[in-house]
Amino acid sequence: MSLSGKKIILGVSGSIAAYKAALIVRGLVKAGAEVKVLMTKAATDFISPLTLATLSKHAVTTSVHDGESWNNHVALGLWADAMLVAPATATTLGKMANGICDSAIVAVYLSARCPVFFAPAMDLDMWAHPATKRNVDLLKSYGNHLIDVGTGELASGLSGAGRLAEPEDIIELLSAFMARTQDAEQGMKGARDESPFGPPTSPSLRAAGAKKMAEREQDLANQTILITAGPTYEDLDPVRYLGNRSTGRMGIALAEAAAARGAKVDLVLGPTELTTEQDGITVHNVRSAREMHAVSVLKWRTANAAILAAAVADYRPSRTEAGKIKKKDGPLTVKLVRNPDIAAELGQEKKPHQRLVGFALETENGVENARGKLKKKNFDFIVLNSPNDKGAAFGHATNKIQLVTGNKVTDFELKPKAAVAHDILDALVGL
Ligand code: C5P
Repeated sequence: MSLSGKKIILGVSGSIAAYKAALIVRGLVKAGAEVKVLMTKAATDFISPLTLATLSKHAVTTSVHDGESWNNHVALGLWADAMLVAPATATTLGKMANGICDSAIVAVYLSARCPVFFAPAMDLDMWAHPATKRNVDLLKSYGNHLIDVGTGELASGLSGAGRLAEPEDIIELLSAFMARTQDAEQGMKGARDESPFGPPTSPSLRAAGAKKMAEREQDLANQTILITAGPTYEDLDPVRYLGNRSTGRMGIALAEAAAARGAKVDLVLGPTELTTEQDGITVHNVRSAREMHAVSVLKWRTANAAILAAAVADYRPSRTEAGKIKKKDGPLTVKLVRNPDIAAELGQEKKPHQRLVGFALETENGVENARGKLKKKNFDFIVLNSPNDKGAAFGHATNKIQLVTGNKVTDFELKPKAAVAHDILDALVGL
């Protein structure tokens, strides 16, 4: 992870996650970057400018002018190799998206010619609001790079999507982007394809990226794709269940990417707060492995391909109690029985024209175990990820995968899940 010699502007806006700006500054400096910090007034209520000035070894700018002198935001915008706004609040996103220039962050953002990254942080309902979504889409449409939110506990006590991406993930993504842009500028082969944020920003590369996007555009037209995603919940009684920490984000990203490339998608989605309303996707909400199995088997009959990204519970309680299980003295024994293996069943019924892609989450002997599954479940290839990799697998906005076939392993670097989805679909189209 190197940002050696890179000049980075960090914009910090007023979210409770602003305290994490200290970790971001420290991580950036540790990776070799020179960092200058801008803060909104609200951010200074959450973390002291002195902290960030000390860590960045530069004075912190909190307004375009301080009554006596004017801070040259244009010069700062031109100085930077990259600008990162983290945490980006709903307010700051809205102001950046609409050019409302009443803070040093927005003034510098509007003057900056470098790549701009924004990492939002807010409560789940604010994040889900159409106004926020529109502002995020606007910012992306201007060529800025979203570092997607994470899922988990929020300051409000609620749990869901809206957490600031982990500081290490943010720094990792920025480093990967800068390394790739540098390679691309030096004309190194493969640099375009591997950019963690899709097409890089120099004009010639942007044109090449746009060409690739256009070719990709409708390469799944007339294809029906079944995607399973999310966890399954296996009920013990009316209020308790056995589940897992899958959020469904990777599967939803796959569904959205496939639909964007022209596919008709059936998304069989386990219980999660995330969903999608994108055209071309029919969402089938299910709860248990058996429900997921029933819908998947039905949809597989008419599908050209299936991508099985769900974290299906291997076992369920042998019975679901009708009433709440009462506590008694001593231990409670619950008998678990095997759930249907959806993947194995689809693999068995696979017709010559159908393609089947599985996922594997392995903590050890990843490739070897993945190859075992590939054969057993009749997958065409398997997407392997390891929870040991930083920023990968459950709950993260990013993922780091290997694609495993019978005789080949292809490594990919850490990327936002939307970019990972396109890599997987590229491999599927390649079949
Ligand atoms: O055997 P394992 O659970 O590791 O296999 C993972 C792959 O199989 C994933 O693609 C997962 O979605 C799928 N699977 C399934 N039904 C199960 C268990 C796993 O479709 N009951």
